[in-house]
Amino acid sequence: MYWIYSKYTKENNFYGKSTPIELIKKYGSPLYVYNEKILRNRCKEMKNLVSYPHFIVNYSAKANSNLKFLKIIKNEGLHVDAMSPGEIFIELKAGFTPKMIFYISNNVSADEMKFAIDAGVNISIDSISQLELYGKINSGGKVALRFNPGIGAGHNAKVVTGGKKTKFGIDTAFIPKVKSLLNQYNLKLIGINQHIGSLFMDSTPYIESVKNILSVAEQFEDLEFIDFGGGFGIPYYKQDYEVRLNIKALGEELNEIMHSWANNYGKWVTFKVEPGRYISAECGVLLGTVNAIKTNSKTRYVGTDIGFNVIERPVLYESHHDIEIYRESEKASDKIEEVNLVGNICESGDIIAKGRFLPEIFEDDIIGILDAGAYGHVMSSNYNSRLRPAEVFIDMDGNDILTRRRDTLDDLLKVYKIN
Ligand code: LLP
Repeated sequence: MYWIYSKYTKENNFYGKSTPIELIKKYGSPLYVYNEKILRNRCKEMKNLVSYPHFIVNYSAKANSNLKFLKIIKNEGLHVDAMSPGEIFIELKAGFTPKMIFYISNNVSADEMKFAIDAGVNISIDSISQLELYGKINSGGKVALRFNPGIGAGHNAKVVTGGKKTKFGIDTAFIPKVKSLLNQYNLKLIGINQHIGSLFMDSTPYIESVKNILSVAEQFEDLEFIDFGGGFGIPYYKQDYEVRLNIKALGEELNEIMHSWANNYGKWVTFKVEPGRYISAECGVLLGTVNAIKTNSKTRYVGTDIGFNVIERPVLYESHHDIEIYRESEKASDKIEEVNLVGNICESGDIIAKGRFLPEIFEDDIIGILDAGAYGHVMSSNYNSRLRPAEVFIDMDGNDILTRRRDTLDDLLKVYKIN
């Protein structure tokens, strides 16, 4: 195999004992590949973020809830958050105990709340209206509350979840109402949480929001935990040497804040963070195949089987993912071309990379979409009745292990009641 353009995966021995071409031959194209070593390293890095003794990393499973993924994360000593009964269900299957799961609800039904309560999972409520509902169905119970810290951050307006333009969290102006509802339903407030949004590379807004949420927390007695949320960014522009988030400096700052706040509060509360992307993005590469190349009105289109049913981020948020190229034949070229890398879905917006300058690509080349481990497979769909790809792990010894098979045509039919 010829590694045409493959710095990141080569440096990390990403594919272990296999090559991308062998993996595609074995499991089909497209294919999600995860490297266990990178995943474990990211977990360790987050666990060591601070030395404050009561610190928990809640992995945000929405980023990647593959069962094996979750088992590895549990094995690394992390806890998890959940956004739905489905995530609670799969997390329990992965071996997390109910107490290791934190359900962060948003506009949910009484049935969903009951599901979490019956499972013994702590639940976070994010509106006055839902607190009232919760009080009615679990009077005398424990509850956590999500406040809006007044600050947001994120790579796209769609993923900013703090500040003035978001549906999330309770506005701090309603704290008196919160207190009266807690009283009315005899609820024990055990925790406070926030999440400012997804992907910051500069930690200033995060630290500011932490300070804000702590001044909210001060207004409540005897809390067990405070959860600062996730959002830790990763460098999607690796090939251009984008600088990593300074996780060490962020950790040091958080550590100091945690110690001094707990000291003033008079209790060693547990502090939590909730990273999804930081843990899972960089251990995943999405492989696909170049099926056709054409020029339409001077635009060069590289046509692959990586439609937006397989990876939605570029279409939904215009997100950038670095691209690698692998080749079986010896065909080589010095040419750099500007191309639109597109998928096979029946929409003109089905573009993975627009106006990207890449080494000349040929039919049958294998494409690697980097940093696809977060919000990749979990956001894939059967649009155009296409089959979602398989997921494969490269384990610590470099062996490939199939963890989730590719959809089959029969899978498309199995939800129907009629034949
Ligand atoms: N906690 C809460 C309450 C969240 O809503 C989220 C993400 C996280 C933690 C984890 O955020 P992270 O550390 O992964 O940034 N689909 C989008 C990202 C949506 C994030 C939604 N909430 C994307 O592909 O960029």
